[in-house]
Amino acid sequence: MARGNTHLTYGSVTKTFHWTIALMIAAMFALGWSARTLAGWIEAPDIITTDATITWAKLLFSMHKTLGITIFFLAILRILWAISQPKPGLLNGDNAAEATLAEAVHWLLYGSLIAVPLSGWVYHASTTGYAPIWWSFGQNLPFVPKDAQVAAISAAVHFILQWVLAGAILLHVAGAVKHHVIDRDATLRRMLPGRMDAIPTRDQPGHTLPILAALAIWAAALGAGAWAGWLSPAATPQGAALAEVQSDWAVQDGALNIAITQGGSEVTGRFDDWTASISYSETPDAGGRHGDVTVTVAIPSLSLGSVTDQATGPDYLAAEAWPTATFEADLVEREGALVADGTLRIRDRQMPVSMPVRLAIENGTADASGSLTIDRRDYAVGLEMKDEGTLAFDVEIDWQLTAARAPQD
Ligand code: HEM
Ligand code: HEM
Repeated sequence: MARGNTHLTYGSVTKTFHWTIALMIAAMFALGWSARTLAGWIEAPDIITTDATITWAKLLFSMHKTLGITIFFLAILRILWAISQPKPGLLNGDNAAEATLAEAVHWLLYGSLIAVPLSGWVYHASTTGYAPIWWSFGQNLPFVPKDAQVAAISAAVHFILQWVLAGAILLHVAGAVKHHVIDRDATLRRMLPGRMDAIPTRDQPGHTLPILAALAIWAAALGAGAWAGWLSPAATPQGAALAEVQSDWAVQDGALNIAITQGGSEVTGRFDDWTASISYSETPDAGGRHGDVTVTVAIPSLSLGSVTDQATGPDYLAAEAWPTATFEADLVEREGALVADGTLRIRDRQMPVSMPVRLAIENGTADASGSLTIDRRDYAVGLEMKDEGTLAFDVEIDWQLTAARAPQD
């Protein structure tokens, strides 16, 4: 069988591309839907998440992403090959309606082979997820920021485009079966292994209408995806904002980050809404105490990559039952260093905590930072996750802030 196409039939390269990618796409749907079902169980408040569910979800998602990116590159090669080759004409090109539909579907299929994996890849790159791509590249993409809005939009676009692809495949297969069973022509046979020439009809559909139809469907899909992503609650942290606090030192800027280790990979996130009430004087009292601090954190303001919903759900931080966490501490000097000595409350659990604080004050502005490692089990977070390999017990918290001394009256 010849490698290249002729005007009468497809060559072996086109056929190999066609059937390899067709098989891979079938596997992608199976992987995508089953991984998404497990993710649904993990997010569901009334289903207890087990180590096995997490391990399987992670495995299926990593397979999905790795295979999907492989399809992306194969599709580029396939399209370059198709451009370089003669295209066998349709065997029923004189049936304008059917032929135009068939060609529009071919455009949709070619475009989907690029757009579907690309939207999934952008989604992966815009979030810190726990299921890595197994290729040594591609965890991040240029021009794609880690951003909840970009993530929500690309997830919605990926979701809609997979249905566009599914619809196109359905029509495509229905067409192939119709040719084979009803028209009894060689359309399907010339795509199967072995040489099969067939004479195309003299009339063939033009390109304009099929391309315009495919473009209109993509525009609608992208618009709907962007709109759904824009409105998605995942893009905006939930929960009422904390009221401002009065304090000797007013926080002007800062960040409160956390890092967890899931399945051996680090997932980082942050709380966007927190307040700190700080009193601090440079000269300590007789007991070495400089002041105190109360930090209140709005749990629903957490963003933690693709596991945000899970982390704020009832098995973990239980944002609905316990919308805030608090840290109350005295700022004391010990062995020449500043330490925040106090209590950290998460959910209904309190633990004593002692955290070194780095502090520099210049012209009435304080720059402070610190970090802390806690054991999630002390706070009843993820108690069902007993295997450290699935979800590490240690959670790293780090913060920094800039505060200005309030004017004295
Ligand atoms: C031809 C390639 C691809 C196909 C056909 C495909 C198809 C699918 C399907 C059917 C789902 C389930 C959607 C649902 O029911 O919610 C899905 C989800 C997903 N896909 Fe893909 N995908 C492809 C490529 C990729 C790639 C390359 C990546 C990342 C590198 C990716 C990442 C994801 C992610 C993260 C989800 C879960 C989305 C969510 O949780 O909302 N996909 N994909
Ligand atoms: C699942 C993913 C599939 C994709 C992405 C896909 C994609 C494509 C594309 C883009 C073409 C046009 C090739 C060209 O002329 O340049 C094509 C042709 C063809 N496909 Fe598929 N296909 C898939 C599955 C299938 C299946 C399951 C069947 C059979 C039941 C099938 C049967 C055919 C036939 C017979 C042709 C030749 C059409 C003709 O000669 O006019 N395809 N396919």
